[in-house]
Amino acid sequence: MPESRTAYYVTTPIYYVNDRPHIGHAYCTILADVLRRFHSMFGCETFFLTGVDEHGQKVEEAAKKRHMTPQQHCDEMQAHFRDLWPTLDISNDDFIRTTEPRHERVVKQALQQLFDSGDIYKGEYEGFYSQRVEKFFTEDELIDGKCPETGGEVQRIVEANYFFRMSRYQQRLIDHINANPDFIRPESRKNEVLGFLRKPLQDLCISRPKSRLSWGIELPFDSDYVTYVWFDALLNYVSVIGLFHDDPRFRKWWAASTHLIGKDILTTHSVYWTTMLFALGLDMPRHIIAHGWWLVDNTKMSKSLGNVINPLAMRDKYGVDSLRYFLMREMVVGLDSDFSEESFLKRHNFELANDLGNLANRLVGFASKQMGGVVPAPGSGSGHAADAEVMKMAAELPARVRGHVESLRVETAIETVMNFVRRLNRYVAETEPFKVIKTDPAAAGAAVYIALEGLRIALNLLWPVMPKKVENLLGALGGCRVVDSLDDLKWGGLVPGSVLNLPEPPFPRFDLPDFDHIPAGAAKVDRSADGAGISNVAGGAGPAKVAGSPAAGAQAGDAVLEHATFDDFLKIKLLVGTVLTAEPVSGSDKLLKLSVDLGEQQPRQIVAGIGDRFPVQKVPGSQVTVVANLKPRKVFGIMSEGMILAATDESGLSLIAPVGTPRKPGTRVG
Ligand code: MSP
Repeated sequence: MPESRTAYYVTTPIYYVNDRPHIGHAYCTILADVLRRFHSMFGCETFFLTGVDEHGQKVEEAAKKRHMTPQQHCDEMQAHFRDLWPTLDISNDDFIRTTEPRHERVVKQALQQLFDSGDIYKGEYEGFYSQRVEKFFTEDELIDGKCPETGGEVQRIVEANYFFRMSRYQQRLIDHINANPDFIRPESRKNEVLGFLRKPLQDLCISRPKSRLSWGIELPFDSDYVTYVWFDALLNYVSVIGLFHDDPRFRKWWAASTHLIGKDILTTHSVYWTTMLFALGLDMPRHIIAHGWWLVDNTKMSKSLGNVINPLAMRDKYGVDSLRYFLMREMVVGLDSDFSEESFLKRHNFELANDLGNLANRLVGFASKQMGGVVPAPGSGSGHAADAEVMKMAAELPARVRGHVESLRVETAIETVMNFVRRLNRYVAETEPFKVIKTDPAAAGAAVYIALEGLRIALNLLWPVMPKKVENLLGALGGCRVVDSLDDLKWGGLVPGSVLNLPEPPFPRFDLPDFDHIPAGAAKVDRSADGAGISNVAGGAGPAKVAGSPAAGAQAGDAVLEHATFDDFLKIKLLVGTVLTAEPVSGSDKLLKLSVDLGEQQPRQIVAGIGDRFPVQKVPGSQVTVVANLKPRKVFGIMSEGMILAATDESGLSLIAPVGTPRKPGTRVG
């Protein structure tokens, strides 16, 4: 591999070994896989890392319950992740377990270096520990004495511990984020981190006394302690590539690193990890990309609700390619999405079976019957004006797709390809080779060639998303192979005379059962761990999926609007409300508790994630638009009985309200 190739190093979070893989884990790992495959087509040399996080209290306790040693427990559990990935066509280069000696060595060396440099010191710790998220909180941060992230129990702990001087690096971190606007993506998450950094950073407690927890990496300078699990886990990104070992892999990959994470672990990555790197004298990763959550019926998945989507079940039911396609096509990186089998099946049937599968089927079927089962010759074209249009679109497609992928608009990249596939279907309808063959076989052959060649180009661009299916389909088109680089994806790759062989429809349709709930996309709610964005658009997730300015490389018309029926719209009850009072929710920078008059007997209580962008004193008296028929739910322990609509861009947030004369509270919008 020539040294001059640009490097691309992509990582996923390392998953807690106790968990069973769910669709959220599968999404992030598939996204990493798709990005790595795209980047290899862009000419980059790529490295893709995933793995499991094996230390900490939860693991120790789970092992105890099973009468096993923690190591035995981990050895067994890690296989759930390691063995799943190949079955989802995930092509990671390495799989790290934090109990591996290669990792422990690096963690110990990092600890020693920071201890020697004075960045780790001993002090007294008092805090409230949430075992669920393996994090400490101050008393102020608790909500009703409970964990602010999960609402679960916390333990009060006072003990001597070691601290990392995180505060020392606060300003450097702020400067780095400001100087590198695409360091934390998307923009809304960057702003969230900058907001967090407005308050002085505390130092980070990075040890646990062995008397309380022994399942961790021992501190090299005090054998009575083990390392805090996050301090250990974050170092996986550099231990694998050989930090401290003068490893050429470290030099090659670190500067090219992209961390994919869920939005709930933004602080640990953007603040803990980055300041650790500063202290170690290392460069920042190139990008930290926070994706949203998969919700089910707009609710977070949880074991207790029994709504956890198992990726294995989905794969077995619908096939790995459709699963990957759905996950990549449905979610806008950074926003939440609702997982429903209804939207899954619709995507499969309409886009894969109808648009893509039918095109391949019709063309190959026709050529098999009428053209000797081989790729016809393009000759001098079909004589139809659409030839030139299709060829121009095909020539522009790779660069457009690349532009979208580089701006993390994976769903738009896919849609751009699918729009081209739909254009090809129309092209076949326009040129009518099925009829024309009777009078002008050469022109009919040319039309089939152009459509097949267009299909070959489209399929290549879908390879990162559906590698197996595309390889098979390309093979069926005269034994074509996936191109190594987009530079090789040029018109004319399909060889006339080569054999077409597609024995079965590539994407059989699935029956659509009767679904009787609101379709996915109708009301997407951003529910990050800190409750951000409950007010829907304010949090960046909303019915209009396109957030912020168009991505570089994107072209007008690429962004796709989902079609809702009028009936869908009517299911959402939008009412004008007048805000009576507003107060901040303690422990959250974003949340405001509002009391809103909707013309009902009692004002409604609504928790809205607008506090960081909208001054609290400006809210009372304002008119707002309220989604009034959402099921009430608790946010930060406070019941919220509706959702406020707002529009946000980089410069701020506006509430959506009647323009001009105020309207009576309770007036219907629509
Ligand atoms: N072990 C830590 C990460 C350490 S990285 C140095 C951890 N593990 S986790 O297994 O709990 O979560 C891993 C990732 O899964 C997180 O990025 C989280 O956002 C993601 N997901 C968990 N549930 C999710 C959804 N419902 N949807 C999408 N991803 C979500 O945190």
